[in-house]
Amino acid sequence: MPAKILISRTIPPEAIALARAGATVDLHPGPQPLPKPELVARLRDKEGLICLITDTIDAEVLQGAPRLKVVSNVAVGYNNIDVAAATARGIVVTNTPDVLTETTADFAWALLMAAARRLVEADQYVRAGKFTQWEMMLLIGADAHGKTLGILGFGRIGRAMARRARGFGMRILYNDALRADPATERELGAMFVDKATLLKESDFVTLHTPLLPDTRHLIGAAELKMMKRTAFLINAARGPIVNEAQLVEALREGRIAGAGLDVYEDEPKVHPGLLSLPNVVLAPHIASASHDTRIKMGTLAVENCLAVLAGKRPPTPVNLEVPQKKQGPARPSAARPAARGGRAAPRRGRPPRSGPPRKHR
Ligand code: DGY
Repeated sequence: MPAKILISRTIPPEAIALARAGATVDLHPGPQPLPKPELVARLRDKEGLICLITDTIDAEVLQGAPRLKVVSNVAVGYNNIDVAAATARGIVVTNTPDVLTETTADFAWALLMAAARRLVEADQYVRAGKFTQWEMMLLIGADAHGKTLGILGFGRIGRAMARRARGFGMRILYNDALRADPATERELGAMFVDKATLLKESDFVTLHTPLLPDTRHLIGAAELKMMKRTAFLINAARGPIVNEAQLVEALREGRIAGAGLDVYEDEPKVHPGLLSLPNVVLAPHIASASHDTRIKMGTLAVENCLAVLAGKRPPTPVNLEVPQKKQGPARPSAARPAARGGRAAPRRGRPPRSGPPRKHR
């Protein structure tokens, strides 16, 4: 009998077709996430769940799903899932790293450029019929080329930002819980500095850490105060990494020059103060939303789910500490040290470190 899986919300048709080829699929096609009681009710007889970041998969949900073997998130971030609770129940959690790295960095770069060069204001100016003559001092912005980029979180996406910054002749600073190896630093031309130095010296600060207890409000009033008055903050990672109310104050008072945001502290709510500020570019959490990448994310999530249900190792597991029999035998190329505390395993190609691995972006 084919395994039963729930797809909690619409994903690309290619991925749904793949799921249907390997399992009996219960698909919630609605535009809104399933309310918790309905999610629990529909999970009762399911072995697999393919879910989105808008689904909260907490201990209560997992407890109501006695047959569940795998929670497959269609995202690289998985702060919507109680990984520790899943691990305790022997449920494999998977995410979709790698396939979205370049697309997300492209978008974070677009936010950086749009904020620096006032692209949204310029668009509104033209649409409002205000472009009546060329003016020397019209919509003057900031250069990106030749400036300093500070990358907080030097994982896959942070490094992809560094590659883009090299093309712009930028000085690149980074900070991460784990320092990159010297060859990577050389290749990317990136210098490891402490967080305060990064904030003080950067013209653009871009955030690429996962959301964890120790990265919540990583940027607040004190950090914003350390930044240059001419600097910009870019966030295409997770909203709660920034204290949004304090960012609004800093933008309002001109303590920093501007911001580009794809994510918000209480999504989908956006702090009302941001909506009226001209020096911030706002997007609705779409950094990975290219046609190709969304298909790849959906497909990888389905592959992860079906692999676990077939007793094989999923391509991109999060909680390696779930007993191997649930995940299938380890492939030599994917062998990574077990993550602790429900956190991500280190990125491929990274040396293990003494503390718990924490990065997944
Ligand atoms: C992720 O993958 O974590 C994004 O935020 C959603 O695409």
